[in-house]
Amino acid sequence: MSPVFISVLLVVACHGYPDGAPDTPEMCDTLKPTHYIIKENSSSGQWQPTALKPFNYSIHVNRKSVYPGKEVKIIIKADQMYFEGFILQARRASNTLDYSKKYGTFKPHDEDAKLICNDAAITHTKHFHWKNITFSWIAPQNVEENVKFVATVVKGYKTYFMNVESDVVKVSGTSAVGISTLILLLASAMNIVHLV
Ligand SMILES: *[C@@H]1O[C@H](CO)[C@@H](O)[C@H](O)[C@H]1NC(C)=O
Ligand SMILES: *[C@@H]1O[C@H](CO)[C@@H](O)[C@H](O)[C@H]1NC(C)=O
Ligand SMILES: *[C@@H]1O[C@H](CO)[C@@H](O)[C@H](O)[C@H]1NC(C)=O
Repeated sequence: MSPVFISVLLVVACHGYPDGAPDTPEMCDTLKPTHYIIKENSSSGQWQPTALKPFNYSIHVNRKSVYPGKEVKIIIKADQMYFEGFILQARRASNTLDYSKKYGTFKPHDEDAKLICNDAAITHTKHFHWKNITFSWIAPQNVEENVKFVATVVKGYKTYFMNVESDVVKVSGTSAVGISTLILLLASAMNIVHLV
């Protein structure tokens, strides 16, 4: 094994995110990896996101609208090759760069993903080459909003893509709990009428 190969391994181990994006306020807002390459003579530089399109990564949702409190299934997919990591969040569809608005909570389907950012973001848990990864999002209560899922997808240590977006999902309507409560109320009201 050449010395060069060993030092590259060390840099990756120290500065990549093999167990997911770090749970820091900065990461939760910017979704931007901040790993550095350490160069000889201690100069350092930050890798920039790849701007070339198409991204070759896509985010698929199983519905276009959802009631508050209900679940949307999400798949991040590598249309070519694979990805090594990601961080994904729900943002306002009209401005996905506005990180003051983050919606709902996430639910991993397996041990490949975990929650960060007070459950308002999801990231990978291990070093792996994924073709796709599936998890769920629970729409927030008391919110009517069009949201999009926006992700940073990492292809490899040096290569990542920001602002990969899903289609719009509309959060609106009365939640199922609200409707069943209403039916119960109605039923008991009718019983009272019958009793009288
Ligand atoms: C590091 O510094 C030395 C001495 O100034 C120089 O000879 C060498 O080329 C530098 N290496 C790099 C990668 O800049
Ligand atoms: C997308 O995939 C194609 C085919 O593999 C490749 O030529 C292209 O460079 C990829 N795009 C990006 C932005 O990496
Ligand atoms: C996800 O990737 C696996 C291979 O790792 C493949 O068998 C499966 O069909 C893919 N699922 C989707 C939804 O693309």
